[in-house]
Amino acid sequence: MKPLRTGETLALGIMSGTSADGIDVALVRIGAQHTSLENFVTLPLPPQVREAVLNLGEGISVSAGEISQLNFLLGEEFAAAALIACRKFHVRPSQIGVIGSHGQTVFHQGVASRVCGRLIASTLQIGEPAIIAARTGITTVGDFRPADMAAGGQGAPLVPFVDYLLYRDKKIGRAALNIGGIANITVIPANATTFQVTAFDTGPGNMVIDALVRHFTHGRKAFDRNAEMANRGNLVSGLLKSLLRDKYFRKPPPKTAGREQYGAEYVRSFLAHPLAKNTAPENLVRTATVLTALSILDATHRFIPRNAIRELIVSGGGARNPLLMAQLESGLSGIRLRRSGELGISEDAKEAFAFAVLAYQTLHKRPANLPAATGARRPAVLGKVCYAG
Ligand SMILES: Nc1ncnc2c1ncn2[C@@H]1O[C@H](COP(=O)(O)OP(=O)(O)O)[C@@H](O)[C@H]1O
Ligand SMILES: [Mg+2]
Repeated sequence: MKPLRTGETLALGIMSGTSADGIDVALVRIGAQHTSLENFVTLPLPPQVREAVLNLGEGISVSAGEISQLNFLLGEEFAAAALIACRKFHVRPSQIGVIGSHGQTVFHQGVASRVCGRLIASTLQIGEPAIIAARTGITTVGDFRPADMAAGGQGAPLVPFVDYLLYRDKKIGRAALNIGGIANITVIPANATTFQVTAFDTGPGNMVIDALVRHFTHGRKAFDRNAEMANRGNLVSGLLKSLLRDKYFRKPPPKTAGREQYGAEYVRSFLAHPLAKNTAPENLVRTATVLTALSILDATHRFIPRNAIRELIVSGGGARNPLLMAQLESGLSGIRLRRSGELGISEDAKEAFAFAVLAYQTLHKRPANLPAATGARRPAVLGKVCYAG
């Protein structure tokens, strides 16, 4: 690593997304003029912890005590991941200025519903940042979403601030698409101001594909590596047509989705569909993959004004699914499909990178939500800062 110049800071971003497939750690160099990804690693989440996290995300009933325990346990896991990452990156923790830890989302409801007679929106990311700060000795920012919601926003998506920083271009309109468990898109028209950036979740990313693969392999496989299963199957077009009739796809943004919509219950009804019964697993995995691609394409055509974008920049684990990428490519007329790696931040590292940048903003008391993306009434300084000593 090149030595730090005056005014430069090293930040670590820690991310565990809805897939709970691992802990992503990005090392980011932040300067006044330039922000770059120095290094990146994904570290495993112990299978038992992964299962506990997935269960919680599905809304399986657990006690407040178990949530509290998992909050501290994940804090330990994230802290250990940060320290292992530092060793791998050959940096000392004392060289790192700040950690941004997204936390594991276990509940997210961006739109208010009635609770004890009052309208309440709420969100919960766990992985106690005070533990991360204490174990690493590094100031840690966590809990980014509540401040946006306190300002009337949906608390998501927050990565658009970073998409804007990375991809805004005077002449070229661009959209950034992240295909994680859920797929989301940020639209940055040419020469946009931050107030012209919109963003929303298009629907399922890898979540339905992953769940089907776990189901058919009895948990032996966690995802359809390189679309091997889907590539052996045939599309069940009647089933696809019926799944595309989903109300969520037609709903105009801002909108957010999660395990609540596309988790276990969704997959149960997918498998119970008359056209899914007695159908080869490969055919169903292929259908889920095409569903993901078509729901993304549908959102692009429906909700992005014609000619507003010339490029679609893809990141997230879904960028490694060749069938998903081929389907996207063939459905995008006049829009160039690119991978985030071509523009400097590898597909796997984008979200972890983003939370390092967001933490740096927080440390400087600068807002980092984009009201046009979250629906907030005003820009807000995000997160809670935990000091190490
Ligand atoms: N080689 C691959 N082939 C197909 N899918 C892949 C591959 N690598 C990763 N994925 C998909 O990406 C997912 C993880 O994506 P990620 O961006 O980490 O999501 P999240 O942010 O929800 O954790 C995996 O669960 C899997 O579905
Ligand atoms: Mg992940």
